[in-house]
Amino acid sequence: MKKLWQGRFSEESSQLLEEFNASIGFDRNLYKEDIEGSIAHATMLSECAIITKDESKTLVDGLKQVLSEIEDNKFEFKTEDEDIHMAVEKRLSEIIGSEIGGKLHTARSRNDQVALDFRLFVLKQNKELAKLVLNLISTLKTISSSNLDTLMPGYTHLQHAQPVSLAYHLMAYSFMFMRDFERFISSFERNNLCPLGSAALAGTPHAINREVTSSTLGFYAPTFNAMDSVSDRDFALEMLFNISVLFTHTSRLCEELILWSSQEFGFISISDKFSTGSSIMPQKKNPDVAELIRGKTGRVYGNLIALLTTMKSLPLAYNKDMQEDKEGVFDSLETAKTSLVILNEMLKTTKFNTDAMLKACKKGHLSATDLADYLVKQKNIPFREAHHITGRCVAVAESAGLDLSDVGLLHLQSVDERIDETALDALNLANSKEARKSYGGTANESVLKQIEVAQKFIENALKLKI
Ligand code: ARG
Repeated sequence: MKKLWQGRFSEESSQLLEEFNASIGFDRNLYKEDIEGSIAHATMLSECAIITKDESKTLVDGLKQVLSEIEDNKFEFKTEDEDIHMAVEKRLSEIIGSEIGGKLHTARSRNDQVALDFRLFVLKQNKELAKLVLNLISTLKTISSSNLDTLMPGYTHLQHAQPVSLAYHLMAYSFMFMRDFERFISSFERNNLCPLGSAALAGTPHAINREVTSSTLGFYAPTFNAMDSVSDRDFALEMLFNISVLFTHTSRLCEELILWSSQEFGFISISDKFSTGSSIMPQKKNPDVAELIRGKTGRVYGNLIALLTTMKSLPLAYNKDMQEDKEGVFDSLETAKTSLVILNEMLKTTKFNTDAMLKACKKGHLSATDLADYLVKQKNIPFREAHHITGRCVAVAESAGLDLSDVGLLHLQSVDERIDETALDALNLANSKEARKSYGGTANESVLKQIEVAQKFIENALKLKI
């Protein structure tokens, strides 16, 4: 088969090379961006009088025909065409003839073409992911709004620490996802520059106008240095990094959902719609969705490390190594999109067993810190001593087989006579939560402010019209 770059070769390519070298199997995903870029390029060439208006129209009409052939599944993708850029150009010349078809690639190289196509594609995906993350923020906010008074143990080292509200715990995830949202948007903003017109690596002697292509394609401006433009894959690395951080968050959330759905916790019941059974144990209900999202974190991190490693020692400018940039990004994007959608739906249908959460609060003396704080505040006892007295109260409660929040005054006074009745209020679990009114704390008034921040965040995000 005659290649578009055949001129200097006297021998045909080996079949082995054709298969090894081809990227059309996956870069066909970029067909829309490729054609969009070519249409903008052809239009600019005629505006700059490098080709005639008629030639430009013929090129654009032909490109539109190629687009509909692809979308109607009438386009034949062939390994010998190597990549989407050459496949589209070849078909274009078949349709309109190579006399005019051959002019499209004036002042352009596949190096700036692929940089453009991939960047356009990734930029759009930043917005898609931001939207899906926003849905998650909104779901967590909704569940939180109705669980301000739902008590649950707060943990450190996975040991019972202090009582918090479920709202407070879930809002912590909301804030993580707000940062993820911002990362996708800021990555879009930073990378929204057009590399087309950089040509192979050094620019072009043709009198092109990069501003025209840049604005036609919706970019803020052309990129500044042609060599950087064809060598740069930061936009893809950022996407892989942003998805990796997002998955750190979803994985932690899923880990908790898995724990919470266990017999030991029993804090949640995941809907049957999002649970699976066992082929042998009839009683089983497994949290596969949460486990899969936790598990997929591995491949998402892998894709990031793979591209970082591919890029790290490449001399400027384009090297074929860079063809390895796409599959990992496609994979991470697909993984992120499907995971975000199902996680959101699963959360919406998950039942929170508030009784079990409250019961768990009665184990582990969650309000012990409150007794120490009471001794400091009410009895002017230095915190270190208060800590020691409280420790002894915990030991008394333990030997009476009670949680500290349930012991009577006599027990407490047996440790220190200065303790009076108001200590019992301090030890009450709901009061303990409500006492933490400090900025960002778990008291309702503080969590309500957090919910308000999330609400404003969502409203502002919707104004971005992404
Ligand atoms: N298929 C190539 C890639 O994905 C397109 C760019 C090829 N450029 C070149 N000079 N061989 O990276």
